[in-house]
Amino acid sequence: MSCAFAAEPATAAVLVALGPAAGAAPSHCGIIMAVTQPAAESPFLRACRRQPVPHTPVWYMRQAGRSLPEYRALRAGTAMLDALSTPDLITEITLQPLRRYHVDAAIFFSDIVVPLRAIGVGIEIKPGVGPVVDNPIRSAHDLPQLRPLEPDDVPYVTEAARNLTAELGATPLIGFAGGPYTLASYLVDGGPSKNFEATKSLMYAEPAVWHELMSRLAEITIGFLQMQVAAGASAVQLFDSWVGTLSLEDYRRAVLPHSKRVFEALAGAGVPRIHFGVGTGELLGVMGEAGADVVGVDWRVPLDEAARRVEPGKALQGNLDPAILLAPWEVIEPRTLEVLARGRTAEGHIFNLGHGVLPQTDPDVLARLTELVHATPASPS
Ligand code: CP3
Repeated sequence: MSCAFAAEPATAAVLVALGPAAGAAPSHCGIIMAVTQPAAESPFLRACRRQPVPHTPVWYMRQAGRSLPEYRALRAGTAMLDALSTPDLITEITLQPLRRYHVDAAIFFSDIVVPLRAIGVGIEIKPGVGPVVDNPIRSAHDLPQLRPLEPDDVPYVTEAARNLTAELGATPLIGFAGGPYTLASYLVDGGPSKNFEATKSLMYAEPAVWHELMSRLAEITIGFLQMQVAAGASAVQLFDSWVGTLSLEDYRRAVLPHSKRVFEALAGAGVPRIHFGVGTGELLGVMGEAGADVVGVDWRVPLDEAARRVEPGKALQGNLDPAILLAPWEVIEPRTLEVLARGRTAEGHIFNLGHGVLPQTDPDVLARLTELVHATPASPS
């Protein structure tokens, strides 16, 4: 089958009407099943495209997960990576937060290490710890195992994403993947790390091996994102969570070419691309250069300042400190209104937390927060 795809520039941002049946096309073509009709005009996608919105759209990183008792009940007795390869569980857990909160998007329930495990890397997600790798990558000899991801490697992702887009109707589904640096940090350090000693040693000492590693990870990430788009995801987020541990110059040299490659490969996909990392205040400008349509901001930089740091033509996403949700509502409300006010200075704003929902967060607080965001005018009257 031909992979040719031509989009009119004017309509490239909103490719419509292929519908779930079209999801049968091969996902590795780098094309575009794109935004299904009902979701295309949703406030979330409009804000990503920097168009006027009826209200500020909102969703939460880690909106599904341990803060929800129904998630804990469903997950009891099932290992994380087993849950993430079971379509019915993926579908149900993705939908759980939407039954509680009137959020403007669902995020696909998966993990950044799913594609790595799918190509045969020995990796586990240890409760309370995070991803742990059996044999960390330390040299060029360890790289061949990082082969490109094929659709057959993750049939459960395709199945769950198709079911979800059918179920969600006008609510967009966000697909996601880990950024190359963040994936490399788990593979090289072998697990969660504070200082990324092994990862940074490889990066500084063996640039050729490093770039080969990053290129392979970028290809895996591209494959994972394209599959989710082909199955109906109407936006994608690249979580390069730990790039904030690099200096601007090291980021430019060691990471940017690979993140650019990911965003370029998704450019024809017809869906907004979001780029997020933690502690990236110094990197916001260059992360914008990597090519996403939306730049995610953690809580450290106010959104009006972030809007100055990111080049024009980008929407922003963020950025309430997730820990604020553990304080009384009297603290949460004014902080939220401040985020919204500063967000109005950006060309487009999607409200979110500055990082994931903390497990001890009260779901009723998130429900109230969602209502507050929606009730606050999106543009100054
Ligand atoms: O946002 C969502 O609701 C979608 C689900 C999601 C998960 N992981 C599920 C998960 C997303 C977007 C991720 C991405 C992810 N995974 C990132 C990037 C985002 C970020 O937080 O910066 C990273 C770095 C990982 C790696 C990872 N997986 C970590 C650090 C952990 C937490 C370890 C722990 O137990 O504290 C995981 C496990 C994980 N992934 C959980 C969830 C809900 C918790 C495990 C569980 O519920 O048993």
